[in-house]
Amino acid sequence: MIFTMDLYHPELRDYLDGLVPSRTGELSAMEAYAKQTQFPIVGPASGQLCYQIARMIGARRVFELGSGFGYSTAWFARAVHENGGGVVHHVVWDETLSNMARSHLLALGYQDIVQYTISEAVEALREVEGPFDVIFNDIDKPGYPASLPVIHDKLRSGGVMIVDNLLWHGAIFDPSDVSEGTQAIREFTRLVTQDPSWIASIVPIRDGVLVATKR
Ligand SMILES: C[S@@+](CC[C@H](N)C(=O)[O-])C[C@H]1O[C@@H](n2cnc3c(N)ncnc32)[C@H](O)[C@@H]1O
Repeated sequence: MIFTMDLYHPELRDYLDGLVPSRTGELSAMEAYAKQTQFPIVGPASGQLCYQIARMIGARRVFELGSGFGYSTAWFARAVHENGGGVVHHVVWDETLSNMARSHLLALGYQDIVQYTISEAVEALREVEGPFDVIFNDIDKPGYPASLPVIHDKLRSGGVMIVDNLLWHGAIFDPSDVSEGTQAIREFTRLVTQDPSWIASIVPIRDGVLVATKR
């Protein structure tokens, strides 16, 4: 049986999202669009966590793998802007999403910070010059294990890797679920948590956000 479940009581999810300060018109329009189209953005509580981490470590160079229409990018761009400026790489293989992101991030005033690449994201990271302060991963889940050595190579010591969907709607707990995506998340989690070069925790908000510092 392959099952997915809402891991949290809906009131808990709404409570955590409700604690995030209200967003600008553009950012809340992006949230409304995602809700209406069922597009899987990280959502307010995880977006706030990404923003907070990037602010905490003074991130000026951020690379995103699997950026969608720019919602998570907006949180990182805000942090980099407040940290004094720098770059956030928005990378997605879909041109329409890349163009949507350009328009949203222009409206948010982050046009000088965000760089756009239409490409397979791990290949794009492999080719770009590092190191980065934060690398955020939200690509298709079968790609997670192979992305790890590339991320490790491009992250500075003390930098933070943030990875979405490590709880995968509970599917990882179902031993009969041996689908490619679920197996890949299990394997990725094992690789990160057993490698002493990472200090890693899964923060169980929304679908589970891995936060891992490179020693
Ligand atoms: C989960 S959505 C991203 C949501 C985004 N992080 C946010 O919260 O706003 C993942 C996006 O990355 C794209 N994608 C998935 N795997 C990719 C890959 N290996 N390379 C480039 N883009 C990828 C998908 O098509 C989709 O648009």
